[in-house]
Amino acid sequence: MHHSDICIAGAGIIGLSLALELHRRGLSVTVFDQAQPLGEASTAAAGMLAASDPDNPAPLRKLADLSLSLYFEFLDRLHAHSGIAVPFHTSQTLQSQISSSSDTLSREALGRILPQLTPRNHHFTLLDEHSLDPRNLAAAVLAAVRATTIDLQPNTKVLSTRSIDDSVEVHTTQGIFHAAKFVNCTGAWATHSTLAPSTTIAPRKGQMLAIAIPPTLSLPLVVRTHGMYIVPRTTGPNKGRAIIGATIEDAGFDKIVHPADIAHLRALAADLLPALADAPQLEVWAGLRPSTPDELPFLGPSPDHRNQFVSAGHYRNGILLAPATAHVMAQMISNQPTAIDLADYSPARVLTSSAIAH
Ligand code: GLY
Repeated sequence: MHHSDICIAGAGIIGLSLALELHRRGLSVTVFDQAQPLGEASTAAAGMLAASDPDNPAPLRKLADLSLSLYFEFLDRLHAHSGIAVPFHTSQTLQSQISSSSDTLSREALGRILPQLTPRNHHFTLLDEHSLDPRNLAAAVLAAVRATTIDLQPNTKVLSTRSIDDSVEVHTTQGIFHAAKFVNCTGAWATHSTLAPSTTIAPRKGQMLAIAIPPTLSLPLVVRTHGMYIVPRTTGPNKGRAIIGATIEDAGFDKIVHPADIAHLRALAADLLPALADAPQLEVWAGLRPSTPDELPFLGPSPDHRNQFVSAGHYRNGILLAPATAHVMAQMISNQPTAIDLADYSPARVLTSSAIAH
C-alpha cells in the first residue's frame, strides 16, 4: 500500500513549492500530475513579481508582500538543492497608471530611463519590481524536487478522494494512494477534477509572443500598461529576447494561438517602443491562468472534506505567490499559526458581487 504524510495533486509551481516546503519540515510527500510537471501555467508565465500591479485586487497585497520577503531565501534554497541559479532579469518596471499622480514620471525622467519609449498619453511610474525566467525557475524547482525523496508521479491523474477517519484515500489512474492529508494544487483544473466542488476556478487564456530585441534598443526593465507588458530576458540562454503579453480570454481549455491576437499585442508594444515593430518573432504560445471570481487564490481547508486542502487559483501571480503560498499552506497543514491572516483567501469565503472582478 502506498502511504505518504501528504499527497498533492498538481505538479505546477504551487504544488512543487509546497512539496519542497513540507519535505523540509520532515514530511513524506507524493505529488501527482495528470501530465508533465510544470507543463502548464508555471512555464507559460512571463515571470514578473508584480506585487504592485494596479490591476491586482487589494487583498492580494499581504500575500504578495510575504512572498517578496521570502523570495531571495526561496531561490537560494533552490540553488543549494538543484545547483541551478535563478537570477533576476530586471529590477524595475515602468508601470502605466490610469491617471497622473505625484509619482508620475516627467517626460524628461522617462527619456533618461528609456530613451526609445514613446509614452503617448500614458502616465508612467517606476516600480522597484523584479522579474525572472519561469522556465529557469521550473528547471531549478524540478531538479530540487528530484534531489529529495519527494515521490513525483507524472502522467497520474487524481480521479477522486475520500476522507476516511484520519486519512485520505486518493484514487488515481495509477491506483489508490493513502495520505494523512491531501492538497489540491491543480490550478485551472482544480474545479474540473471535482476535488473541491465548492470552489470555482476557471481557465483564463493568455496568448504571448517572444521577440528578439533589436541591437539598437537597450531594454533593461519591464514596461507594463493595463493591457500589455514587455519583459526582457537580460541573462542566461534566453538573453536578448523579450516576452510580450498577454491576452485575457475566457476560452475554456483552448490554447490555440491566433496570429491576429499576436499581431495586436505586437502593435501595442510597438506603439510604445517602435523598435519592436519589425523585431524577429521567436516563439508564440498560450497559457491557462487559474482564475477565481474575485481573482484571489483559494488557500485553506476544503469546506467539504476532512484533512483535504485547496491551494489553487493564483490567476496572474502564481510565480510571485509560490513561496508565500508554500509557507502558509505548510504552516496550516502542520497545525501551526500562519504568518498572515488567510481569511481573504478562504475556500469557504462568500463571494459577494462587489468582490467579483468580472
Ligand atoms: N502574469 C502575467 C499574466 O497573467 O499575463
